[in-house]
Amino acid sequence: MKVGMNVGRYAYFRGGFVPIEEANVSIMTHALNYGTGCFEGIRGYWNEDERQMYVFRMPEHYHRMSDSGRILMMDLPMSVAELGETTTELLRRNKHTEDVYIRPLLFKSSPLIGVRLHNLDQEFSLFTAPFGKYVDVDGPVRIRTSSWRRVEDTSAPARAKITGTYINAALAKTEAVLDGYAEALVLTESGHVSEGSAENLFAVIGGKLVTPSVNDNILAGITRATVIELASNLLGIETEGRAVDRTELYIADEVFLCGTGAQVVPVNEIDHRCIGDGATGPITARLEEIYNRVIRGYEPDYWHWLTPVYTDSYPAPVAVEPITANQQ
Ligand SMILES: Cc1ncc(COP(=O)(O)O)c(C=O)c1O
Repeated sequence: MKVGMNVGRYAYFRGGFVPIEEANVSIMTHALNYGTGCFEGIRGYWNEDERQMYVFRMPEHYHRMSDSGRILMMDLPMSVAELGETTTELLRRNKHTEDVYIRPLLFKSSPLIGVRLHNLDQEFSLFTAPFGKYVDVDGPVRIRTSSWRRVEDTSAPARAKITGTYINAALAKTEAVLDGYAEALVLTESGHVSEGSAENLFAVIGGKLVTPSVNDNILAGITRATVIELASNLLGIETEGRAVDRTELYIADEVFLCGTGAQVVPVNEIDHRCIGDGATGPITARLEEIYNRVIRGYEPDYWHWLTPVYTDSYPAPVAVEPITANQQ
């Protein structure tokens, strides 16, 4: 198998650590055919000053995966704490010394035809890869309202991070990018703001933060929860989770997207309307700065959100050894 990206040498697959080239599934796999899997996207941040990698809010990600699994009638293969240990062990084996993305996947693995959730085997896998920016633009971004609507809880639950449901995000993202925008603004069937293709959205209105509620078909983001807590604790700004109209965003003082991949991304234009004065707003800028300090371990009050990967017995390696497509 050729790997189409820089990726860690080892994966966790079928209960053990194996070379990434050996972590493969059959074309008959249920999840591959029907999208019956759930996943997480977790980030590990490299701190060069300390030569340490911090995984951000890992238990919260595995708890959300447990919830997604319950919706799909699957259980985590081990406890949240054990999943955390398996993840840090994989990161050490892969000897990462840069920012990484961690991808756990829990999926229906039975090699058979038949659309259903019950009476199927399941598997859990994990790989890690060096990972920089997700939204590939520096500074504030332009977004457009998508012609696609967010999946509804009555059809495909958005609160679960289900592999198959990501076709919804892919349709919206590709439409936006091919039309020259960095991201999509996705509405619910009833026309309220839901989120970006893979980010939650906040607006600053009258000095307060406003964000679509969990009943507007969002994925309840861990970054969203982080922003709400940091804004309250460090800036004294409270967040209102409620139904948000698209045109409220046009006249908001500031708008930003946030997610594990994207982090905090200021939005300066929506549907050709300039947001605020077109520059990154002051509250967004403060939150971006605070978030970047917290995730890299520069804010002791938030160390409880970080899992250090390297220890005295397993110090950080001197050189990185990622696999690239050309090496294989
Ligand atoms: C659809 C969707 N919404 C929101 C988010 C943000 O969630 P989190 O902050 O937990 O990464 C993501 C990213 O995982 C996503 O895929």
